[in-house]
Amino acid sequence: MRRDFVGVFDSGYGGLTVLRALIHEFPHEKFVYFGDNAHAPYGSRSVADVQRLAFTSLDILAQAGAKALVVACNTACAAALPHIIERYQVGMHIPVVDVVAPTARALAAATTSGTVGVIATDVTIRQHTYQDALKALNPHLSITAVACPEFVPLIEAGRIAGSDVDSIVARSLSPIAAAHVDSLALGCTHYPLLIDAIAGFVGDGVRIVDASPTAQVLRDVLGEHALLAEDMKQGVTTFVTSADPTEFRARAQAFLGLDVPPVYSSSFFAAECVGQENDEMG
Ligand code: DGL
Repeated sequence: MRRDFVGVFDSGYGGLTVLRALIHEFPHEKFVYFGDNAHAPYGSRSVADVQRLAFTSLDILAQAGAKALVVACNTACAAALPHIIERYQVGMHIPVVDVVAPTARALAAATTSGTVGVIATDVTIRQHTYQDALKALNPHLSITAVACPEFVPLIEAGRIAGSDVDSIVARSLSPIAAAHVDSLALGCTHYPLLIDAIAGFVGDGVRIVDASPTAQVLRDVLGEHALLAEDMKQGVTTFVTSADPTEFRARAQAFLGLDVPPVYSSSFFAAECVGQENDEMG
């Protein structure tokens, strides 16, 4: 089959913050963004649940012809990355790019004091995903890792500003303020959508990093596998959601500040774009 697009997957709207960086970095590339909004938030589910949901969405992207997969969901990476690599990269030769490693590297590079903070979903914090990745990069880091389970439901409901958002952010981030970190990783791709409230609370003295360096990793991976789109091509992005396409389009437009074309429902996309390649799946 012809594999010609980069599949970008998240539980909902959060991966759009990664997609924005990817579209900027790769103006000639074809992307399909898949938001599993019907099942968001992933962050407070069991690990087994997140694995199952991630496979369901990633299978659709793989079967529809993804040439590479960006898992733009820290929670899915925390719950399932080795299995995802096994299934798609090893089993189907579709390179997989995750968001944890680039974000952790950016945080380790940003700190000067060695006292850092990470905020993420319950699953990501419970799995010690960032704690382990950061300790592997620099065993001397002092890490305060805090779950912020109230953030994703707010964002999925379209609430990213206002006094109620500010007070939830302040309450959630009080351990970060108490730890006097000099750098903070947004270890959930939804959180950059709350950047004004988060930056306002932690103040100018704290460097904030997110998953946007994933774009550079994707460049390296596509280059290595000779998968980069040709320069003459005009890039295009298709959006797919497991929830309501009209609502997704309106929210995505507001969050991205970009014109978003009509959005596919995941069932329609699967029926239209997934061909006879099911026997490829392991
Ligand atoms: N945006 C995702 C992450 O990076 C998942 C958030 C959620 O669904 O709880 O963790």
